[in-house]
Amino acid sequence: MKLDLKMLGEEAKRKIRGAKNERDLDGLRVEFLGRKKGKITLFLKNIRNLPPEDKPRQGQLVNRLKKEIGERILERKEALKKGEPGEYIDITLPGKKPPLGRLHPITQTLEEIKRIFIGLGFCVVRGPEIETEYYNFEALNMPQYHPARDEQDSFYLEDGRLLRTQTSPVQIRIMEKTSPPIRIIAPGRCYRRDAIDASHFPMFHQVEGLAVDRDITFSHLKGSLTCFVYQMFGKGTKLRFRPSFFPFTEPSAEVDISCIICKGSGCNVCSQKGWLEILGAGMVDPEVFKKVNYDPEKYQGFAFGMGVERICMLKYGIDDIRLFFQNDLRFLRQF
Ligand code: PHE
Repeated sequence: MKLDLKMLGEEAKRKIRGAKNERDLDGLRVEFLGRKKGKITLFLKNIRNLPPEDKPRQGQLVNRLKKEIGERILERKEALKKGEPGEYIDITLPGKKPPLGRLHPITQTLEEIKRIFIGLGFCVVRGPEIETEYYNFEALNMPQYHPARDEQDSFYLEDGRLLRTQTSPVQIRIMEKTSPPIRIIAPGRCYRRDAIDASHFPMFHQVEGLAVDRDITFSHLKGSLTCFVYQMFGKGTKLRFRPSFFPFTEPSAEVDISCIICKGSGCNVCSQKGWLEILGAGMVDPEVFKKVNYDPEKYQGFAFGMGVERICMLKYGIDDIRLFFQNDLRFLRQF
């Protein structure tokens, strides 16, 4: 009974607030306070059916509401006369908090990587995720019989094209249509037919880097990557360039950083090595320059490619790549 009365009062007040003219308000007076069938009047009439001990209290409540509604109707009439708008917003009510979204940790990491390289003078470019064998392999000095071209490793389309296995084909596409100097990074998705486990997923992200100019040396590569690592992982981080091999760079290196968990003394994350591999890099192979009609005698370049998931996992101590793709809000909300 008490609850009904409260709801009735709220309904009346809401309708009064929404009234657009005097006629609306006259209608509301009849609806709620009308002598015969007014909704509040009926409450008053009903009091005589209540147990005697409830009568005074209920009478008081209903009468108070009746008075209040009468006053509100009058107030609203005055306000309308003064030209106040039909609906008004009660700015004293507490606001509704909109649910806040956030960027995926991979997107955040990508943004951070881009920010750093843009600061070093690189431009951000993109290439297609569906590639031809020419761009994904051939032009990168991986001829037909190269083991990395094994069908086991790549997703092929029926027409012979494939989902790019790396962002390196963007190097070729950019060099084909521009002449040096070039300083670009190319972020994007890559695909490999890997079995899913804690460190492999068939779709992942890479950021490719390429700088071509006269007199580019390995020192420029070292300097750029050192600058990147300091900003991404902190200034105290050490770098190590390990000789390696990629068909499209010569010499090639894999770059390790001192383990961000144990700082190099050895722990589970770095398998007691003290070092974590973060990317592949090298000086652009003259064979690649020939494919895009650059004179290898005139130009040199460096290139690098890093896995964004890996960078993000190392930065935040995430031990399973699958977490990025499960869309579990308990995980995502932490970033
Ligand atoms: N594309 C190589 C990979 O996916 C990485 C790389 C890029 C290495 C550029 C050297 C230069 O492993």
